[in-house]
Amino acid sequence: MKGAFYGLKVTQVSLILIGFVCATVVILAWTKTTFLASFIPSQSRIVQLNPEILPDGTDGASSEKVLEGKNSSKEAERNKLARVGSSSTEYTIKGEHSKDLVTGDGAEIPPDVTNAVLEGKRSSKESERDREAPASLSSTESTIKEEPSKNLATDDKKKEIPPSITGSESDKVSEAKNSSKPVERDVVAAISSKQGCNYNKGKWVIDDSRPLYSGFGCKQWLSSMWACRLTQRTDFEYEKLRWQPKDCRMEEFTGSKFLKRMKDKTLAFIGDSLGRQQFQSLMCMVTGGEERSDVLDVGKEYGLVKARGSVRPDGWAYRFPSTNTTILYYWSASLCDLEPLDLSNPATDYAMHLDRPPAFLNRFLHKFDVLVLNTGHHWNRGKLNANRWIMYVGGLPNSNRKIADIAGAKNFTAYSIVRWVNSQLPKYPGLKAFFRSISPRHFFHGDWNTGGTCDNTTPLSGGKEVLQDESSDHLAAGAVNGTAVKLLDITALSELRDEGHISRYSIKATPGVQDCLHWCLPGLPDTWNEILFAQI
Ligand SMILES: *[C@@H]1O[C@H](CO)[C@@H](O)[C@H](O)[C@H]1NC(C)=O
Ligand SMILES: *[C@@H]1O[C@H](CO)[C@@H](O)[C@H](O)[C@H]1NC(C)=O
Ligand SMILES: *[C@@H]1O[C@H](CO)[C@@H](O)[C@H](O)[C@H]1NC(C)=O
Ligand SMILES: *[C@@H]1O[C@H](CO)[C@@H](O)[C@H](O)[C@H]1NC(C)=O
Ligand SMILES: *[C@@H]1O[C@H](CO)[C@@H](O)[C@H](O)[C@H]1NC(C)=O
Repeated sequence: MKGAFYGLKVTQVSLILIGFVCATVVILAWTKTTFLASFIPSQSRIVQLNPEILPDGTDGASSEKVLEGKNSSKEAERNKLARVGSSSTEYTIKGEHSKDLVTGDGAEIPPDVTNAVLEGKRSSKESERDREAPASLSSTESTIKEEPSKNLATDDKKKEIPPSITGSESDKVSEAKNSSKPVERDVVAAISSKQGCNYNKGKWVIDDSRPLYSGFGCKQWLSSMWACRLTQRTDFEYEKLRWQPKDCRMEEFTGSKFLKRMKDKTLAFIGDSLGRQQFQSLMCMVTGGEERSDVLDVGKEYGLVKARGSVRPDGWAYRFPSTNTTILYYWSASLCDLEPLDLSNPATDYAMHLDRPPAFLNRFLHKFDVLVLNTGHHWNRGKLNANRWIMYVGGLPNSNRKIADIAGAKNFTAYSIVRWVNSQLPKYPGLKAFFRSISPRHFFHGDWNTGGTCDNTTPLSGGKEVLQDESSDHLAAGAVNGTAVKLLDITALSELRDEGHISRYSIKATPGVQDCLHWCLPGLPDTWNEILFAQI
């Protein structure tokens, strides 16, 4: 009895010990195995920051704040992810760099529609401005490149993001297998909401919450020539599309959020007519297209008044008194300083200082909190000649052959303006400066002056997704590279939207000529502003 008793006891003790050792071994093995470790609840609570589940009204900014509160390890993770995001361009297909598909000029480019009309008449900055018709080569050949089916960045991300588990114990295995993807995406969204996200990569989706304002409204700011609802056009599917970035959630734009964020601040668009479209779009978005008698015209503060004999002022500036927010636009098609060479001669030539910022920008930069620059479609020989713009570099007529070439001049100027703005940024640490990539043209079966058309009415017939990491606008991407000026990259996503142009409904065009350069509003420039809003 006793022996048996003791025997039993020894057996029991041994069993307990063996069980203990086994359990320890199993747990150790479990934690050391990457695959199995993923079933152990992570200490990270990052999944709770999923912006999709944040209450309405909270935005990317607040989710970032939460992240920031959790410091060190999260911070490091975020940086790591941001790096993964931004360096992912390395993994995309190379080999197209030599061909500038977007702006592919260099060859002689035909002057635009109105150039022809105005030929011989007195041309100046004013007449130039009237011509808002297309100019440079079509970019429609530009294709959206597929990235390699599985790129390295994604694999890296998988390793770096702590998997998390939300369900109960019993769900763990099945759910962890499936949910790692969505969780990962949400983490990326939360983390990269302002810095790491490539907003130009994603897809177009149909969304009934679009457009953000009615094309029958916004008469206070929207030029009738761009309000396609006021034309004979009958297809409006293009108004219903919303851009959905792939790796991050884009914060929903609302006028009140915008104004709150821009309290006591000024946003300036400086560029050509496509910049003006973006300006009008933003005014309509902020007001929801509603008439606003409280909004003040403060053009005078910026010298934006109509000069004698001119069709319109050089720009417009409006202030929302409720938040003291100013939105302005200044017309500078080339983003360089234009100086009349003979003040007494009304038909004077102009020195086009390729290496000097527009005087307006130089003068008012200190007042801006957000700056959006664009140029591109005016860089052709016809326009330069018609405007009597003569290239100057270093204060002297240009003698550099590389720059004398139109493509060279455009490139030189883009680099010059971006570098100049970059050099000013230390003085204005609050300033966010953007260089917007080129807005693509869509002339099919010809160019602007040879019967080119863009009258397809089916949205996204050429695809709805952008999968590439790199910008389609190599010139703009190169110009901002290594500077603190950001690229507002809208080229590839806009290339998918050939049906969104004014097309045959241009109220100015001569019969048979279509405007496949400018966009209907509401329309594509609204998306550019959503992407801008996500970054300010
Ligand atoms: C976060 O970490 C940084 C250094 O990495 C430190 O300076 C800072 O005080 C930390 N903040 C909090 C809230 O712990
Ligand atoms: C799991 O993933 C598969 C394919 O990835 C998907 O078809 C399925 O709907 C997912 N199941 C759940 C519950 O998410
Ligand atoms: C409006 O904002 C500007 C800065 O952009 C500031 O200088 C000015 O004092 C503000 N005006 C009021 C009435 O707060
Ligand atoms: C554009 O200009 C920059 C700076 O001057 C230069 O490094 C680059 O090679 C130029 N690119 C082209 C395509 O001319
Ligand atoms: C930016 O500059 C870096 C280093 O000079 C270069 O490796 C990279 O290709 C450039 N990127 C672009 C988009 O021009």
